[in-house]
Amino acid sequence: MPGGRTPSERPTSERLPGEPMPGGRRGADTRGRGGPTAGTLDAARPHADQSLLIEHLHALQDAKGHITRGELRRLGEDLNLPDAGTFEVATFYHGFRVVEDGAPAPPPLVEVCDSLTCCLFGGGDALRAELVRLAGDRAEVKGVACLGRCDQAPAARLLGQGVPRATAAELLLRLGAGPEAAPAASGAVVFDDYLAGGGYSLLRACHGGTLDLEGLLTPLEESGLRGLGGAGFPVGRKWRAVHGQPAPRLMAVNADESEPGTFKDRFHLLADPHRVLEGMLLAAWAVGAEAVYFFLRDEYDDVRALLTREIARLPELGLPLPPVHLRRGAGNYICGEESAMLESLEGRRGLPRHKPPYPSVRGLFGRPTLINNVETLYWVRDLVERGPAWFLSHGRQGRQGLRSFSVSGRVRDPGVKMAPAGTSAIELIEEFCGGMAEGHVFRAFLPGGASGGILPAALGHLPLDFGTLEPHGAMVGSAALIVLSDRDSVREAAHNLMRFFHHESCGQCTPCRVGTGKAERLMAEKRWDAALLSDLGGCMADASICGLGQAAPNAFRSVLRHFPEEVT
Ligand SMILES: Cc1cc2nc3c(=O)[nH]c(=O)nc-3n(C[C@H](O)[C@H](O)[C@H](O)COP(=O)(O)O)c2cc1C
Ligand code: SF4
Ligand code: FES
Repeated sequence: MPGGRTPSERPTSERLPGEPMPGGRRGADTRGRGGPTAGTLDAARPHADQSLLIEHLHALQDAKGHITRGELRRLGEDLNLPDAGTFEVATFYHGFRVVEDGAPAPPPLVEVCDSLTCCLFGGGDALRAELVRLAGDRAEVKGVACLGRCDQAPAARLLGQGVPRATAAELLLRLGAGPEAAPAASGAVVFDDYLAGGGYSLLRACHGGTLDLEGLLTPLEESGLRGLGGAGFPVGRKWRAVHGQPAPRLMAVNADESEPGTFKDRFHLLADPHRVLEGMLLAAWAVGAEAVYFFLRDEYDDVRALLTREIARLPELGLPLPPVHLRRGAGNYICGEESAMLESLEGRRGLPRHKPPYPSVRGLFGRPTLINNVETLYWVRDLVERGPAWFLSHGRQGRQGLRSFSVSGRVRDPGVKMAPAGTSAIELIEEFCGGMAEGHVFRAFLPGGASGGILPAALGHLPLDFGTLEPHGAMVGSAALIVLSDRDSVREAAHNLMRFFHHESCGQCTPCRVGTGKAERLMAEKRWDAALLSDLGGCMADASICGLGQAAPNAFRSVLRHFPEEVT
């Protein structure tokens, strides 16, 4: 293993949070028999693992659909946390329902997606209102942000399970039937298939000494692979930076995927989970990570079931692999921001950290941490096995490489489209999605989900890639293309985005917490105050701590720049 000790060389006193306790006590370690269960905490543990707080909250909530104040207090006692410590975390996350002691148990929860694509297809307010009317007090109906199923809009979630193309009637029917077993993901390339196709040979070569660190990093660098979580940081450079830090080092996989319009990570994890896992283990080997934390958004219950099963097969490789801890998110978009994800993995509220120091220097539990997005890791095996020339041979309009575009909205055939970098919105619609939906004329598009701005169809020929859209006030980000038509209101779309940002702001800094709320109110006016919004946008972009507040103004800036006729 390049640099640092192997996990077996580490003194047991350096136990990582979430690893088995000496003497066999353990947290939610995916190498074993599942995570913590309500009521199994050992009060005698002198330093019960506080980083597992969110896992324990999930265990409590899974048991009966909510958490009582008394349970929170007892959990705090078990974890040596003050009551306020468990309460602030449980109530920060949208995914937990905390009720007062003695209050009646709330009815089953139905979550209806309120984000843009679902609203185009009758979701959001319309679906919620109908459901409330039909279900009465049989269900609590709640609006939630994008569920990562935008190609199946309108999406909902019932009793913790995703429901594609939801209608009020079907949700009611399912409500009566009760929870189903977690759906077995069909069609996935599972462990045996993956091995049969040459999978894990590369990892074996690294561990066996036939491929060294340079042999792994050079093709990644020559291919120019950039992080595909949205920020586009060069992958090889990040791996080298973490490798160069003092051990012990860690790795975290960002599978939060909450940017409205984005569902590519879900697609790859369901279709070919081991390609992502091999990329992850290669990265962990390259930086000498002693443990890997896989942060998966909780709305992907089917992905979690699949990953739990497939990660459990990894020891069959017989390699000295680091432990892989599968951790559940709890419903907040901001936890996809890498430093907020680290806070969440440590069992706290997901408040982004000030940077620097960057996670590569001081990350999870204060240790140098490599963080990569799911799709970034998905490409690693192909890039090394097929070589950079293969990757670079793809591309359009002078751009190079391949990307997974999540396409939703007014197209005939939405979904994840594997297309050359630099493919334009028009090409994606016409060549990859079978054209516009019946009766719709292409009017506008969001090239990078909620954060990436809105562009007019007249710019639909631009190459979609890092750096190509910025001159027009937009960015490709996670490559989530949402297509709007002549029947859609761009100002309404932008208002939907600002509602999302306001709801998802962690509240830590004023420009974002107050700015998103103020922008939402200003955007509700028939005529927008362009001067005031411009001032506000400047302040938010310049003074917000993280990318959420910095990118939120793109929503109204795009409308003012490209669609002024709708708001003035
Ligand atoms: C508000 C916000 C939300 C983000 N959400 C995600 C996400 O859901 N998934 C993701 O991989 N990256 C997300 N990112 C980017 C991460 O902070 C980080 O750049 C990325 O995980 C690094 O991995 P990569 O280099 O492989 O892209 C988000 C960033 C911001 C500012
Ligand atoms: S910009 Fe928004 S989300 Fe980011 S730290 Fe500030 S308040 Fe939180
Ligand atoms: S699932 Fe509703 S917008 Fe993504």
